[in-house]
Amino acid sequence: MQHLLLTNIKQLCGVEIGDNRKTRLAGADMKQLPSIENAWLYIEHGKIESFGSMDDFHPKQATDIMDLSGRIVLPSWVDSHTHLVFAGSREGEFVDRINGLSYEEIAKRGGGILNSAAKMKAADEHELYEAACQRLHNVMHQGTGAIEIKSGYGLDLDGELKMLKVIRKLKENAHIPIKASFLAAHAYPIDYKQNHEGYLNLIINTMLPKIADEGLADYMDVFCEEGFFSVAETERLLEAGWKYGLKPKIHANQLHYSGGVQVGVKHNAISVDHLECVGDAEIAALKAGNTIPTLLPAAAFFLGIQYQPARKIIDAGLPVCLATDYNPGSCPSGNVELLLTLACTQLKMTPEEAVNAVTINGAAALELTDEMGTIAAGKRANLIITKPVPSLAYIPYDFGNNNIEKMLVNGSVL
Ligand code: NIG
Ligand code: FE
Repeated sequence: MQHLLLTNIKQLCGVEIGDNRKTRLAGADMKQLPSIENAWLYIEHGKIESFGSMDDFHPKQATDIMDLSGRIVLPSWVDSHTHLVFAGSREGEFVDRINGLSYEEIAKRGGGILNSAAKMKAADEHELYEAACQRLHNVMHQGTGAIEIKSGYGLDLDGELKMLKVIRKLKENAHIPIKASFLAAHAYPIDYKQNHEGYLNLIINTMLPKIADEGLADYMDVFCEEGFFSVAETERLLEAGWKYGLKPKIHANQLHYSGGVQVGVKHNAISVDHLECVGDAEIAALKAGNTIPTLLPAAAFFLGIQYQPARKIIDAGLPVCLATDYNPGSCPSGNVELLLTLACTQLKMTPEEAVNAVTINGAAALELTDEMGTIAAGKRANLIITKPVPSLAYIPYDFGNNNIEKMLVNGSVL
């Protein structure tokens, strides 16, 4: 499909108007989702070429035309935080939590991340790839047009390399932008429970050089949390990552006021993610830096813990990014439509704020602003075409249902 013309679009959302390219939206600006009613959009060689109102439509040479009466078109979701590569499942822990155990208690008993690490050790690389490919395909059909994927269930050199090679293969084959984060510092493996120094040395002196040398990661991640990696340990890891050109994107303040937000901002993290525990000190730190607060409400929902204070963050004038956290433990779903519903009902974000958080701000959190996140000439034609819907708000309102009719990837129907 070389030239595709979309006509009679009920509402074209997330458009950039004028030359002033915004790279992220913060504070009150997040409420604005610039849109054109009754619009057309022209795609050439996989990219958005031009768009406008049907009122001033000039006929275009197109190999294909789609009449999108009644349908909304949006930039595809940019899911900036996932653990999409994993082996097996953990529904046993789901039942343990129903019966009263907490996520932390399960982790202390050797479950949680270590449970997935044991499954990862036994997993065959090809099967791992096939399973991840299937998940990726599913979330793409649910509107995801760019994604970040973490390692972090290997927890030794071979295991981390195995995961990162699977991510590299996904990058080669998927046709959407994929970024890889190196998360060996996800949990201390059993052999290093009493030897933190030994594991930090292994990450810093053995894993990092090898992974950087093979170009296997884009970002450095750490689970900065009580019972996992302390602030001091996180600092050492982030400094080591920077030496190899890996910018930080870290897990912070999920379970406690751990100092993770502050340490992330101090080390110029692209984003600090989770943020269930955010008070005035965390807000002040974020205001002083450029780090994007990324909220993962679907993980809070699934673990039954407190939600992130999105209003407090936005009302402080900060940007908010939303991501799924798709992983086998705290969020076995990569469904962004459900994420939008949670953002609206639980975090009290408006539908426009929620869509901005997972499009333009998602692109910022993956440094993909040049090609993703908005409708703009020259950007990738990774676009969501909804079913006929009465309005944008209907999408998070009609929860649990799929309102996506078609997904375009590089201008072609998936
Ligand atoms: O983002 N919190 C740390 N890591 C993941 C969960 C990983 C797991 O439980 O497997 C998260 O929620
Ligand atoms: Fe995570």
